[in-house]
Amino acid sequence: VTAVEQLFGLIESWTGMCLTRGGAAVSLQRFAAARVKQLGLSSIDEYVKQLAGPLRLEREVLVNAVTVNYTWFYRDAEQLDALGQLLRDGWPQGASLNVWVPGCATGEDAYAVALLAEAVNRPARVLGTDLNSASLAWAREGRYGAWSTRELPQALRQGFTAAGNKALQVRDDVRRRVQFEVHNLVDAPKRPPGAGWDVVLCRNVLIYFSSEGAQAAHERLGAAVAPAGWLVLGASESVFSVPAGMQPARLAGRAALYRPPARSSSPKADAPARVETPQPKKRDAAGSPSPTAGAPTRPAAEKSAMLGGPAAPFSTRGGAAARRAPSAVELTLEGAGLMSTNLAGGIALLMQAREADPLSVEAHLHLGIAFHLSGDAVSAAPALRSALLLDPTLWPASFYLALTYENLGQPAEARREYQRVVDQSQSPLVLEARGVLGDLEAWKADVLALARRRGA
Ligand SMILES: C[S@@+](CC[C@H](N)C(=O)[O-])C[C@H]1O[C@@H](n2cnc3c(N)ncnc32)[C@H](O)[C@@H]1O
Repeated sequence: VTAVEQLFGLIESWTGMCLTRGGAAVSLQRFAAARVKQLGLSSIDEYVKQLAGPLRLEREVLVNAVTVNYTWFYRDAEQLDALGQLLRDGWPQGASLNVWVPGCATGEDAYAVALLAEAVNRPARVLGTDLNSASLAWAREGRYGAWSTRELPQALRQGFTAAGNKALQVRDDVRRRVQFEVHNLVDAPKRPPGAGWDVVLCRNVLIYFSSEGAQAAHERLGAAVAPAGWLVLGASESVFSVPAGMQPARLAGRAALYRPPARSSSPKADAPARVETPQPKKRDAAGSPSPTAGAPTRPAAEKSAMLGGPAAPFSTRGGAAARRAPSAVELTLEGAGLMSTNLAGGIALLMQAREADPLSVEAHLHLGIAFHLSGDAVSAAPALRSALLLDPTLWPASFYLALTYENLGQPAEARREYQRVVDQSQSPLVLEARGVLGDLEAWKADVLALARRRGA
């Protein structure tokens, strides 16, 4: 077993995430090699050994680097519209609800639920949790760039104020109703005061787990759901076994689990109007309920790829299940190529590249540059910081981050990054895909002169 294979195993045992997707081994090796150098260790073997002891804190660095925090507001509008109706009709008027959003990444879903509840006059408190502490820091800030809010319906925009640079800031009173905490889905579930969670919204998290891991997580999450409560999953997720006391159900055609109130065994009588209960006889061989009309279906091969098979979880490259999914490097090159003619299209591809391989320095760097060029400094900063976390010597990332900090009105941080450009200008660029960096290298002398002037 190689050191990198051991790392994959450790990551799965800590997080449930099965990362053996295309390209991940190369970038995990590259990331580990960079950390070995930064930490003054002798080899990746030593790094792996020390993770169990003296380097326990390094686990957080590793987990933050490998988790995919790809999300945006109102991802899957149909499902969230249905959730809004459920919040309105699913409980007696005035009843206050507890909602948990595990795997909330940078917080978009957690705030969206709070805003949906507000829109239907439903008192609700929301807890957003994630394993990635850096994503949660962003979530608590509640400030989102234009890309993240582009699909937000007009009615929910009232929950924000303008924050400059095309960014939106979640209103303070909304932020007070949403808490964020670190939590690992491998551990015992969070419990609210009272009977349990009325809604658990866990979308696009367990797709990175093995099927056994996802099933065990469904059991844990299900056990924390209150009577008359719901566990709502993402559009591409299936339920393979139903936790005790729950029933399979559908919300806007997507898989969900419903816990009937204690004294009733009939979900139809008690569940709100939006419950689409499956017919028990129509189950498929795998035991998952057949999709009701309008439910999204997904080829089995694609589903298995999403559960840790060799291909990356691409959902938008239609019918590609049988073909090899493009690698993060290929997507980065394609996205970088689009940047001069179709910036939005380029950003979409670069987001996919980052999802395909969260350790791809190239994907983070190009995404940061693309956001910077689109005027979305709020989204550019974290992408460029991620690139620098993976490779602190990457002077082009420091250069764009300095420009981004200037746009954000953070001169001290900008100066620090310009200084880093100067300090690292002799470091070779170790990249699998240069994309737009060829141009920047041609201008290196000018970049350096500018960085010297502004860093001084
Ligand atoms: C792709 S994001 C999903 C965000 C949002 N729910 C959505 O549907 O867009 C997946 C998130 O799951 C988190 N995650 C992965 N494994 C986890 C675990 N074991 N416990 C908690 N969160 C986890 C990652 O850190 C990441 O932020």
